[in-house]
Amino acid sequence: YAQDKKWKIGFSQVTTIEPWRAQFNKDILAEAAKHPNVELIVTDGEDKTEKQVADVENLIRQEVDALLISPKESAGLTGVVQQAIDAKIPVFVLDRNVDTKDFTQFVGGDNKLIGRAAGEYAVELLGGKGKASGNVVEIWGGMGTEPAHDRHDGFHEFTDKEPGIKYLLDQQSGDWKQDQAYNIMATALRNNEKIDLVYGHNDPMAYGAYLAAKDVGREKDIKFIGIDGLPNEGVQLVNKGELTATFTYVTPGAEGLRQAIKFLNGEKVEKTITLPTQKITKENAAQVLKDNGL
Ligand code: FRU
Repeated sequence: YAQDKKWKIGFSQVTTIEPWRAQFNKDILAEAAKHPNVELIVTDGEDKTEKQVADVENLIRQEVDALLISPKESAGLTGVVQQAIDAKIPVFVLDRNVDTKDFTQFVGGDNKLIGRAAGEYAVELLGGKGKASGNVVEIWGGMGTEPAHDRHDGFHEFTDKEPGIKYLLDQQSGDWKQDQAYNIMATALRNNEKIDLVYGHNDPMAYGAYLAAKDVGREKDIKFIGIDGLPNEGVQLVNKGELTATFTYVTPGAEGLRQAIKFLNGEKVEKTITLPTQKITKENAAQVLKDNGL
């Protein structure tokens, strides 16, 4: 039976140092442990496109039965994903997309939807629909990634309707990193006497901006919105009142592996699996922590 077959599955992860990536790997390894017939090979792209390309080439050479990949950026990883597809390896793209639709499946959150939820909440925080006003700093994730563009576009669908909202920065990317966001914010604080709201494309960057504001004693004047909502990171920051809100971005680790196994066992899988999100504010943060045993 197909179920008795031993599957060799490769997972090319972009990096392991960010909290969300660490959780992602934890989730996929926990799922793998439930399937004795699955051998999971996890590689670490060390946040470099070239390293991740080499990792995937390596997994193709090892003749994995399926390839899971969460790419650093779309353009640079598309070629090697196509190579895997050409080698007849079913490919499951997780969280960040590539520039082809020839893969077997995409599993990830709806970043446009999350961006919209963040934008809607920003408008509320700045005075409400039709009346919102304030100076906004947006710190982008990686410019070559779909999540950053979708998080931007969704947010602006709401905030651009408000003539009272002004944007202080022009497409500044912190590449998802706390320290880069700290530096961007430190400069923005020097150049602008009034900042009302920071929108970071993930929690590490929203927190980096918070720390920069705190270091000059201005954190109380500013609302900070992030994305990821990990219980041991963003939710705790919201609960402490450091971030104003975060939106959960469930890792596709467990679901991605389950889908690949399902496919290898001969079942049909959907082209896209969309993972849910939840708004976390001071109102529900403590409860979410409790639900997670924290
Ligand atoms: C981690 C991360 C997350 C973010 C996701 C977007 O590398 O930056 O914080 O939500 O990637 O792809």
